[in-house]
Amino acid sequence: MQITIRLMHIQIEPKAVEQIETDALIVPVFEGIPDPRFGADELFSAGEITGKALEITLLHRPQGSRAARVALAGAGKRESFDPVGMRRLAGAAVRFLKPKGLKRITLAAGPAFEGAEYTAAAVEGAILGDFEPDRYKTGNDKKSIDSFAVAGAAAGMAEAAERGRVLAESQNFARGLVNEPANRLSPGGMAAAAKEVAAQTGLECEVLNQAAMQALGMGSLLGVAQGSAEPPCLIVLRYRPSAPAGASHLGLVGKGVTFDTGGISIKPADGMEKMKYDMAGGAAMIGAMRAIAQLKPPATVTAFVPCVENMPGSRAQRPGDIVTAMSGKTIEVINTDAEGRLILADAITYARRQGCTHLVDAATLTGAIVVALGHLHVGLFANDDAMRDRVLAASRAEGERMWPMPLDEDYKDYLKSAFADVANVGGRWGGAVTAAMFLKEFSEDTPWVHLDIAGTAWLDDSKPYMAKGPTGLPVRTLVRLAEEWKEGA
Ligand code: BES
Ligand code: MN
Ligand code: ZN
Repeated sequence: MQITIRLMHIQIEPKAVEQIETDALIVPVFEGIPDPRFGADELFSAGEITGKALEITLLHRPQGSRAARVALAGAGKRESFDPVGMRRLAGAAVRFLKPKGLKRITLAAGPAFEGAEYTAAAVEGAILGDFEPDRYKTGNDKKSIDSFAVAGAAAGMAEAAERGRVLAESQNFARGLVNEPANRLSPGGMAAAAKEVAAQTGLECEVLNQAAMQALGMGSLLGVAQGSAEPPCLIVLRYRPSAPAGASHLGLVGKGVTFDTGGISIKPADGMEKMKYDMAGGAAMIGAMRAIAQLKPPATVTAFVPCVENMPGSRAQRPGDIVTAMSGKTIEVINTDAEGRLILADAITYARRQGCTHLVDAATLTGAIVVALGHLHVGLFANDDAMRDRVLAASRAEGERMWPMPLDEDYKDYLKSAFADVANVGGRWGGAVTAAMFLKEFSEDTPWVHLDIAGTAWLDDSKPYMAKGPTGLPVRTLVRLAEEWKEGA
């Protein structure tokens, strides 16, 4: 499966604001601070421009500027404007300007906002805002942007813009992969996409097929796959720094269910089409590796993406089946719709056997996390406080909201089985926690964080700064984690 991402030329524009020639100049304006430039005084005093977040006013042939248009973009209160606000502002402005056919866009936020974090955020916002899930819409009326520039002359802006470009393009890559429908993206298609990323970026890619997984004893993963005509696979993408900072080895494990019907414990028809996004965790890992390969942090990082299609069928696994996982543990499959944890169990064991010293997994694992946190926060579970804090710090720095959830040993009782070592579901309550608890059984003593992204990997309605559909979370957090990896921390 070939995922092509739209490319925009990204640059830094060192000219003074009045001198910038561009199709559209984005200028942030703040609440309660009328901007005396561009002849917009009347609009400010009439209250037409308030500076409220994401309010955009387009000025034609503005006074005192060589730009064809100036887009005054509301940035909210100046004292609370941060990189998250900048990312959204740039995204909303791009999504406002693109349909008008404006091709060259420049953002001029002023010297106070030329820092690396703001510059990267502006570039990210523009590229993320440009993404449309419209690959399969035919017609030639699709608009595109040629270039996006950030105005300023501060040191480090070019590097920050480049980092932002790599991050956002990799996030859009993950979004493109998630957007693929299941008839076009099978487990084998995901492997092909990963191989292509590896070929383009110099990562090492290995794909374990069914026979290889059988030989390794991955009964938990293979049990899920057996109901589908599509053969499963386990994608392994390896990044080795030229000068590793130490001996630790970060493993990224992502759920790659290319479609989740629920299997024999079949899901209701209503909304089932959305289950093409059940490989969003896996796509995020491939996207993160794509960025890591280009940004070259000093950490050793390997991604593991178990890919299956969860289908009912004459060969499908049944409720009550007992499978033996690679770790040796037996699992009673009470509900075939709790398939994500079954494939992750074996991928986590394999990652540990491959020498990973630290693990992060991401998975659209439970509807229960959406009940608990809605669509705003990723649910974060951990068996290690230091690891939890590292991931939380990275998520905060990247503006990808995550919220720590409990994982006390006592929750283990919820997963008791009379017939096997563990059941694949708990009872009615605490569904996101019991799912995490199940994974904890397989992480064992390896410091590990589990990210339940069921509520955050997909936007049900477009935002001013982002199209409806796949969000690409948590690509940036994972890349930041690798960038800031410190031995023994
Ligand atoms: N892929 C789903 C989780 C999901 C559900 C994501 C709804 C997004 C929206 C997962 O495989 C699943 O089916 N989980 C079950 C677990 C249950 C059977 C214990 C769920 O959440 O209902
Ligand atoms: Mn399921
Ligand atoms: Zn699922």
